[in-house]
Amino acid sequence: MRLNDRDMIRKETTFGIVNHWTLAISCILLTLSGYGFLFQIQIIGTMFCGFPAMKVIHNWLGVVFTASLVLSMVFWLKECITFDKDDIAWVKAAGGYLSHKVAIPPMHKLNTGQKLAYLGVLGMGFGIIATGFVIWLFPANQTLMIWSHFLHNLCFIGMALFIPVHVYLGAIANPGTMRIMIYGTVPVWWARKKSPKWIQEVEEGRHH
Ligand code: HEM
Repeated sequence: MRLNDRDMIRKETTFGIVNHWTLAISCILLTLSGYGFLFQIQIIGTMFCGFPAMKVIHNWLGVVFTASLVLSMVFWLKECITFDKDDIAWVKAAGGYLSHKVAIPPMHKLNTGQKLAYLGVLGMGFGIIATGFVIWLFPANQTLMIWSHFLHNLCFIGMALFIPVHVYLGAIANPGTMRIMIYGTVPVWWARKKSPKWIQEVEEGRHH
């Protein structure tokens, strides 16, 4: 059954939207307070009611972030570990970011760059979580402290670089994408252009 291009199609469930915002808000507040700790920035400390309170808030935001990162796997992991020849072609064409003249291969719900970004967030996320809990729970162990802080900061740099690029791509550079995180739906014509393999599967009754 061919979908009507003027209709809307659901790309993200309400639960998925709420989880993404939980992930986003906890991640941004963790990054901000983490930046405050790293460079001892007074104004950030004040925003969080002083450094001691900021430490407690940072730890518990870490718990929220952990829960939403684990839940995100329900929504995104299966798709993000599925690659085929079109993904290789996407990487070779650099996703069309470097030239508008290259042909971009057909994508499923997420493109290759988004899938790799997710795996990066997952890897860095679990790195920052594991080391964060070690710093929180085993402060007496000197060796563990040094290595955990080092790895925690390394993952922090990765996250701090990911966020602005991701927000720019999702909210500014690709018109029509932001509504996924608000309403969860997109126009069929838009999805047919960005995610033709997904629409094809829906039309063939193999996906919903
Ligand atoms: C407030 C800022 C944010 C906005 C506006 C935003 C926007 C979006 C949008 C529109 C999508 C859906 C893309 C699609 O389905 O085609 C998305 C997906 C995603 N978001 Fe965010 N996001 C934000 C913050 C974050 C943060 C802080 C993280 C880090 C943990 C994050 C992680 C992800 C991941 C892993 C995906 C799935 C893969 C991808 O599209 O790259 N987001 N985001």
